[in-house]
Amino acid sequence: MDKRPVWTSKYAFIVTAIGSAVGLGNIWRFPYVMGQNGGAIFLAVYIILICTICFIPLLNELYVGKLTQKECVGAYESINKNLKPLGALNPVTGILISAFYFIVGGWIINYIFKSFSSAGIKDYGQYFSSFISEPVYPCILTLLFIFLCVFFTARGLKNGIEKANKIFMPMLALILVFLVIISLNLPDAQKGLEYMFKPDFSKLNSHMLLAALGQAFFTLSIGMGALLTYGSYIKEDKTLVKSVYTIILSDTTFAILAGIMIFPAVFSFGMLPDSGAGLVFVTLPKIFSQIPFGNLISSAFFILLFCAAVTSGISIVEGPCATLVERFKISRVKACTILFTIISLIAIPTTLSFGLLNGLKIFDKTLFEFLDFLTSNIMLPLNTLFLCIISGWYLKINGQIIIKNKMSAKLFNFGLKYIVPIALICLIVAGLK
Ligand code: PFF
Repeated sequence: MDKRPVWTSKYAFIVTAIGSAVGLGNIWRFPYVMGQNGGAIFLAVYIILICTICFIPLLNELYVGKLTQKECVGAYESINKNLKPLGALNPVTGILISAFYFIVGGWIINYIFKSFSSAGIKDYGQYFSSFISEPVYPCILTLLFIFLCVFFTARGLKNGIEKANKIFMPMLALILVFLVIISLNLPDAQKGLEYMFKPDFSKLNSHMLLAALGQAFFTLSIGMGALLTYGSYIKEDKTLVKSVYTIILSDTTFAILAGIMIFPAVFSFGMLPDSGAGLVFVTLPKIFSQIPFGNLISSAFFILLFCAAVTSGISIVEGPCATLVERFKISRVKACTILFTIISLIAIPTTLSFGLLNGLKIFDKTLFEFLDFLTSNIMLPLNTLFLCIISGWYLKINGQIIIKNKMSAKLFNFGLKYIVPIALICLIVAGLK
């Protein structure tokens, strides 16, 4: 069995944790969820929630990992033997999430290629729906994306995971700044900025509140053991709270910049920001095709999306990988081969649910919709709920061990025991409707 790894530096840990947080959730999901929920007012609510309520489970998950120095199943088991099945739910969630997250990764690869040869496309909506419903090509791309994430994970913490994040994250930041500058220089760009930053309080409602909360949990990668596993590789960190704020601040900055990159462009071309998941794959390519150097800008955008998806994808694989390695005493390469096989076996039929297997429905949802619903609406919040209850009520973790400021420590204790569990129960109940 491989020796248990530790972070080579604090910087490596922070970049990798930010790499996990900044993903499709920020650049693909955040702008369209914001577009569907009223723009600026959604952003304001989101920022408040992410800095208050979400801070608590994020710190808690990293802390439990650091405290136990074990992967998910071992961590729960070391708290109480009977909690083992709850621990196992985390890597299972990771595998299920990867099966649909990596499909979008495959689409991104296609759009990187297409950026160089999009001349023949007339109707981007039509192109997107016919591409995703093809039986073979999207499957190959999904497999390629799974392979890439598994490959970096198999190389280990130092030579794979840290290295990939140290390369992809600065690249992502550079491309994002470049695209933001271009977007801000488009005609009527201020309309997009107004949409993002001028709140319309009449749009405030409970549905939007829950959408913001769900988005915040998803984007911070809370609830499937990825952060617990990353936390378990920390040997000594007296400034965990600072690290958590750095992760939250960076993740939010990336999401806001993604909005500043997308909305001015959308408004500049007289399009609507509420077109849902197609915003990035239909609306934006249409815009790219109409601006000078569109091919270059389009490829830069999809490379950016790719960097974000890979670094998050790696963190999704690392949780189950660490569990296999430490529970079954096998090598990382063996664990990753097993994971590649399992994820592919779930992802292939899920990819086909846009075409060949479109008729296969679970609770009236296609396989892709069902996996997205099951993981984002139920399993992620449920795992977080369990861990908060375990830490707050069973372990009785005292915030003062982690947070120096007495008042903040008290708020942390109260939030962990009451506020976060109640918010999560509301989220799960609303998600079930
Ligand atoms: N935070 C990632 C994103 O915003 O795309 C998604 C994600 C990664 C969720 C890892 C959960 C996770 F454990």
